[in-house]
Amino acid sequence: MRADSLFILTGAGISAESGLGTFRDRGGIWSRFDPMRLATPEAFAAEPVLVHEFYNLRRRNAREARPNPAHAALARLEAGLSQAGGRLFLCTQNVDDLHERAGSRAVVHMHGELAKARCLSCEAVHPWEDDLSVDTPCPACGRSGGMRPDVVWFGEMPHHLDAIDAALAAADRFVAIGTSGAVYPAAGYVAQARQRGIPTLALNLEAADNAGLFEATRLGPASVTVPAFVAALLDGR
Ligand code: APR
Ligand code: ZN
Repeated sequence: MRADSLFILTGAGISAESGLGTFRDRGGIWSRFDPMRLATPEAFAAEPVLVHEFYNLRRRNAREARPNPAHAALARLEAGLSQAGGRLFLCTQNVDDLHERAGSRAVVHMHGELAKARCLSCEAVHPWEDDLSVDTPCPACGRSGGMRPDVVWFGEMPHHLDAIDAALAAADRFVAIGTSGAVYPAAGYVAQARQRGIPTLALNLEAADNAGLFEATRLGPASVTVPAFVAALLDGR
């Protein structure tokens, strides 16, 4: 296999078969909860108890979930590519840690992580497994009332954008897995890849909003399409 430099973008669909909800499918999270009341800095300032409850529930669900064969296949791909002198840049929109728990060693969380909390008073970021509340003191500065989930809310700047753009500029191939292509800047990465003339592939359950921009799309559950994709790359199958 050539020593490829692969850019893979994942979304909520890769964690769907691990039991974690997606956002825009039928019955998705945003059809049951109002993102403007739960996933913006203004919402947190206005109703911190409600926002903490929402993210505490999602943090508990993520902790109880297990990686599925799609996460495991990407961990295998990362190791296989690196042995062949290639590179996998794994950029996820997901805030769960299922990629890491499946064995992926380099995961770029552009929308932050449920397993981290940030203090608004001193900006310290801490690994965080338990519930957060308005009474949680910051382990660094001791102040409470300002601890928030270290996730990116609507209206906030996603993380690691420079590293993402650099990886996209160096990639030989772009693959999007389990994302609806509804939220920018992630939804625009396939267009950047097309402008560079590199192959683009979508692995999704249904056609994404930006499906027309992909050279190829393979429809099906990620637990089937991703292991097949990785086997074809690594084992030539
Ligand atoms: N296998 C593969 N794809 C799946 C599966 C599955 N088992 N189940 C669902 N999908 C696909 C859906 O067809 C859909 O295209 O995953 C996609 C999920 O889309 P969204 O729910 O919009 O999730 P995502 O694209 O990750 O949302 C992006 O929006 O609200 C923000 O911050 C949030 O990171 C999130 C961002
Ligand atoms: Zn602090």
